Amino acid sequence: MAKMVVLLVLFTLFLSFSTNEVGCKRIYREDHMGLKRQLKLSNKLAKKTIRTKYGDTYDCINLYEQHFFNYRSLKNHTYDFPVRSTSNPKGIRDQKSSPLFNPSNFWLNGKGCPDGMVPIKRNTEDDLKRAKLATDIHNSKYKPLTIDRPGTHYAIVRTKNTNIVYHGGSTIISIYNPKVEGTQYSSARIKVLNGPDSIEVGWTTSNSSCFNTLCNSIIPTSTDIPLGIPIVPISTPEQQFDMKFMLFWDSANGNWFLKFGQNETDIGFWPKNVFTALGDGANYVEWGGEVFSPPGVPSPPMGSAYSARLQEDTKYDAYCRQIKTINETDYVVDAVDTEEFSDIVQYQVHDEGLTGAADFQHLVLFGGLGGYTGNEDF
Ligand SMILES: *[C@@H]1O[C@H](CO)[C@@H](O)[C@H](O)[C@H]1NC(C)=O
Ligand SMILES: *[C@@H]1O[C@H](CO)[C@@H](O)[C@H](O)[C@H]1NC(C)=O
Ligand SMILES: *[C@@H]1O[C@H](CO)[C@@H](O)[C@H](O)[C@H]1NC(C)=O
Ligand SMILES: *[C@@H]1O[C@H](CO)[C@@H](O)[C@H](O)[C@H]1NC(C)=O
Repeated sequence: MAKMVVLLVLFTLFLSFSTNEVGCKRIYREDHMGLKRQLKLSNKLAKKTIRTKYGDTYDCINLYEQHFFNYRSLKNHTYDFPVRSTSNPKGIRDQKSSPLFNPSNFWLNGKGCPDGMVPIKRNTEDDLKRAKLATDIHNSKYKPLTIDRPGTHYAIVRTKNTNIVYHGGSTIISIYNPKVEGTQYSSARIKVLNGPDSIEVGWTTSNSSCFNTLCNSIIPTSTDIPLGIPIVPISTPEQQFDMKFMLFWDSANGNWFLKFGQNETDIGFWPKNVFTALGDGANYVEWGGEVFSPPGVPSPPMGSAYSARLQEDTKYDAYCRQIKTINETDYVVDAVDTEEFSDIVQYQVHDEGLTGAADFQHLVLFGGLGGYTGNEDF
């Protein structure tokens, strides 16, 4: 069961809990109090039930009937949402990434849901436990109105100038499976931010993640690529596997679209009205690793965790390659004017800059063995 490595949509972890209370807490409380209630709803809406070869069950639900549309604030907007971006990011780019996710190898039926429907995971007790755990962790350590979260560590490259409006960003991230325990997580992702709002996508290994529609305001739109899929195989020094993630802000409607894989397939979107600031575009983009550990527990490995120091080699270090931003006229361009940031020496990052290698372009290496036990003030 390749549960540890998933496509991650961490949006709610960083969205302001204080101002509009969008987040795990509210959603868990309001919409997921009972597994039974949820199952009932899914059963009622399910037009068809499909299974994955990993043994998970998904209900195929009419795109516009998924329960997200029942949220009070969205009720009146149901049919206003374009479920694909109205335009596509421009500019020539190399699309190559490992073709890891293949619906025909994922679904027992080989193809997912029928047209017009989306696969929604039928949550198990384990899923709910993980979501509850994530909720507790993120609510307890979250300091409203700051992004300073004790127990969280970063090794990232980020844009410096916050006076620029970004219509998104993208990267191709190598896949690893760092070991975590208890409530720890370790992830590699791209993040866009504006004010109190942020969206992160990438992969995570965690026992406490809340990456699917339980805790997210993302509206899945793909018939065959659900959220929270296991990503296999894992990179080794002999062979690296990686995955493309793109976040694109559609200035025509203010929604954020998640595009995934070598063909930049739309797999879901966040409507403008779930944000306070991000609905007007981003002013910050970052790429790299993030880990969390509770107090007193040595922090987990990040990335490939091959050694204590980066090897400066994509065979051994986890990477984000082709780091890009999307500019105000929707062109996907190389990320420029970036800086490295890591908060403790146990995690390192190296901004290789524009490498000149067509496969890598602007390259970021990151990772570390972890093992830090700080005196953190919770
Ligand atoms: C939805 O629309 C109805 C009729 O226009 C209105 O009475 C109601 O307050 C609206 N609800 C929300 C949540 O905006
Ligand atoms: C992670 O979760 C799984 C499934 O709930 C559980 O079997 C396992 O013991 C957990 N591992 C840790 C380290 O908590
Ligand atoms: C991407 O698009 C090409 C051309 O349409 C197609 O042959 C290929 O199968 C697609 N790849 C994926 C992963 O969907
Ligand atoms: C966006 O990038 C394209 C291609 O490099 C360029 O032609 C255009 O002027 C840029 N737009 C802005 C607003 O910088």
